Amino acid sequence: MSEKISAPKGMLDILPENSGKWTALENVIRDICGRHGFEEIRTPVVEHTEVFSRGVGDTTDVVSKEMYTFEDKGGRSITLRPEGTAGVVRSFLENGLFNAPMPVKLFYLIGCYRYEKPQKGRLREFHQFGVEMFGATDPMSDATLISLPHQLFERLGVSGVTLHLNSIGCRSCRAEYRNKLRAYFEDKKDKLCPTCLTRLEKNPMRILDCKDAGCKELGKEAPLILDHICSDCADHFEKVQSYLGAMNIPFEIDARIVRGLDYYNRTVFEFVSTDLGAQSTVCGGGRYDGMTEQLGGEDFPGIGFAMGMERFLLMLESQGITLEDKKVPDLYIAPMGEAAKVKAAALVAELTGAGAGVVTDLMGKSLKAQMKYASKIGARHVIVLGDGELESGKITLKDMNGGEPKEIALDALCAADVQ
Ligand code: HAM
Repeated sequence: MSEKISAPKGMLDILPENSGKWTALENVIRDICGRHGFEEIRTPVVEHTEVFSRGVGDTTDVVSKEMYTFEDKGGRSITLRPEGTAGVVRSFLENGLFNAPMPVKLFYLIGCYRYEKPQKGRLREFHQFGVEMFGATDPMSDATLISLPHQLFERLGVSGVTLHLNSIGCRSCRAEYRNKLRAYFEDKKDKLCPTCLTRLEKNPMRILDCKDAGCKELGKEAPLILDHICSDCADHFEKVQSYLGAMNIPFEIDARIVRGLDYYNRTVFEFVSTDLGAQSTVCGGGRYDGMTEQLGGEDFPGIGFAMGMERFLLMLESQGITLEDKKVPDLYIAPMGEAAKVKAAALVAELTGAGAGVVTDLMGKSLKAQMKYASKIGARHVIVLGDGELESGKITLKDMNGGEPKEIALDALCAADVQ
């Protein structure tokens, strides 16, 4: 036998015993998005690397350290998406989605790839539910967007999640703040990690997001952007808060949130759970006005968030919240002999076509083994089909949940009898 092959490190199989939870969660997500008028978008799993280096920013950890980048056979640099926003912005511009009535409201359920050190809640392949909205600058759009994950938590009865809110200002107020930050870190240069030394020149705000323990410690005393935002940004932030209040969504102002990606401005937010250990942010997002220009388009305001599906499911599990979407068959047909098998094949085709869930034996199992199998897969009804039943034209519909057995004419058996 050849050597066994395992999945790449940090990438998990979603096995049948778990996939029902995923489907159930996705169904609730699709329902909430639909109610708020968001439509699904599906973009390629890979993009030209530039989409991320320009969109997300090349001084971010995501772009500078964590991307799966390779050259394709045509010599182009291609990257597995580390997040969803940049690709959606690229698609929004490329496909002229801005011609649709504004605001354009999109959501996605996607796999993302980051070369990080795997640990609980941190994977190399993970999944995001994300939402992006283009065209609206009104603070009410920020609050509306934030209400989606809030509604998802409420609907599934999740507790222990806090909404952290901050404003990181606009391009103009950030320029001044950046100088203050640079001045603050300048005389602590020798304690910064090598990546942050380059960041000091290019983009000092990124130092506040560094994972290095030393940089984190230095960042604790750094000046806060919230103390340096302009009056327009402060007004916007005030209004976001009052809309959240009106929507009954509790939040905490957290002036330390800067987010790990470069495209943000004004409102940024994170939903943080007490159940996730070190990787406690289950959902993060914010406003990204100006990003469409970064990617070569006209200027459209944008705002969005993404939620880590694995982290969300971990949180549900630790709170004992079950989500099930397991389909059990309505009927198991146990055929005995060749003529019965032919009839069973016809019945499966007919009844599944009419909407019932029906399975039968495909392995030539004994009757005893078939009954065991039917009970293991949770079939709700069973019929045994042998020469006797074929001759008499009658079958006994056995209710596996203890109900009365019913005698039915074989020709009259229909989907409604078993559903
Ligand atoms: P992000 O904060 O990088 O934002 O990721 C969003 C969420 O994805 C995180 O809060 C976390 O739950 C999950 N996540 C991130 N990395 C991993 C990982 N390695 N393993 C497991 N889960 C992970 C974004 O990606 C932005 N695109 C969000 C956004 C959309 N902002 C505006 N629009």
